[in-house]
Amino acid sequence: MSIFDALKESHERQRALSEQLLAAPTPEQKLSVYEALRMELHAHAAAEERNFYMPLMERDSGLDLSRHAIHEHHLMDEMMEDLDDMIKKDKIGVDEWDEVAGNLSHRVNHHVDEEENKFFPKAREILDDSEIKNLAKGYNEDFAEYQNNNVA
Ligand SMILES: [Fe+2]
Ligand SMILES: [Fe+2]
Repeated sequence: MSIFDALKESHERQRALSEQLLAAPTPEQKLSVYEALRMELHAHAAAEERNFYMPLMERDSGLDLSRHAIHEHHLMDEMMEDLDDMIKKDKIGVDEWDEVAGNLSHRVNHHVDEEENKFFPKAREILDDSEIKNLAKGYNEDFAEYQNNNVA
């Protein structure tokens, strides 16, 4: 398995969950889909930053794309903080919550598309074959560890 295959597996789950988030009809279903998406995004971002963007950032040619992607991770974190705050105030499913959830869903799709279409081709030029393979192992381990340490 390559690091690209490993990242794409999570991207597919992110796409599916962000679509389900828009379609969920009740507050209970919105909450359960949102919690699954939040776990996926947090575990993925932590493992992706450590095992994909950090090695890319070590090279000058990988600096800009890594900064851009990590900035987008922050934007998604802020949207999730807003959603979490509203959940605490029992405002899940009000118009404002749905609007931020819609923005998050849109942002997730934009981000994974940009990574796959723009950043992966550049990363293939920067990383060598053994890194492409070895980074997948580190990514999968870090992803699983994050999930185990952050069970709801
Ligand atoms: Fe990302
Ligand atoms: Fe990603």
